[in-house]
Amino acid sequence: NQASTSEPSLSPKPIAVLVIGMAGSGKTTLIQQINSYMHAKRKIGYIINLDPAVTHMPYEANIDIRDTVKYKNVMKEYNLGPNGGILTSCNMFATRFDQVIKLCEKPRDPALQYIIADTPGQIEIFTWSASGAIITELLASSFPTLVVYVVDTPRCTNPQTFMSNMLQACSILYKTKLPMLLAFNKVDVTRHDFAIEWMTDFESYQAALDKDPSYASTLSRSLSLVLDEFYNGLKSVGVSAVTGEGMAEFFEGIEACAEYYEKIYVPE
Ligand code: GTP
Repeated sequence: NQASTSEPSLSPKPIAVLVIGMAGSGKTTLIQQINSYMHAKRKIGYIINLDPAVTHMPYEANIDIRDTVKYKNVMKEYNLGPNGGILTSCNMFATRFDQVIKLCEKPRDPALQYIIADTPGQIEIFTWSASGAIITELLASSFPTLVVYVVDTPRCTNPQTFMSNMLQACSILYKTKLPMLLAFNKVDVTRHDFAIEWMTDFESYQAALDKDPSYASTLSRSLSLVLDEFYNGLKSVGVSAVTGEGMAEFFEGIEACAEYYEKIYVPE
């Protein structure tokens, strides 16, 4: 009897998504929207909160750093300021992140499809710390993993601000070596067409810069040539974390990045 001798079919691994972006770009609101979308579409996901200092969370996290470390106690105990307290709390949590991986590898619901991680408000606390590197590496060596870089679209309409945000994204890509989905958020306030145009048409970006003859503008001109390669390999999508616009495309982007991960990921 074929059925009794064959191995049970393994369900595919869940996709891990690290949500990173500048403070105020809308990470938390976007995760709330992702959560509602998953419920509506019967997709099964875990949400991990990695921000020890968050006071209000509009969604319920399955795994919450605040259940393990109290950052105010860490501040007191080690005589640290707020940033040092957050950083140390993240480092403490990272030492136990293997337990989080185990929970996600043997989830209560074996049909788990997504693991969505919300990162601390201050971007560099995650991107330039031991904890960020450890957590990223543990996720990426266990699951198909990608970075969603959230862009505050209304705050990027100036070509130089846009450039500085893209350099930040590029640096994260360089450090994590993971597929990246650019989520142009807040499209209910400002459409992201200008950004797509600047990323795909070098001359239109140059034309926007021509209005500003400063040194920074000359630098941006040269950098945009460098970033051309970065833009080529990048997926992007316009979303509104408030209205839910673009969520279907967002999930398509996640799936495409996960497929790309299979092709490019090389364990350290
Ligand atoms: P930190 O916790 O500082 O990292 O912020 P965050 O990146 O998690 O951003 P958060 O979700 O707290 O959103 C910041 C502000 O932007 C809030 O006032 C949100 O209501 C607003 N916001 C987020 N997404 C959208 C959006 O798609 N459209 C509009 N109009 N506002 C948004």
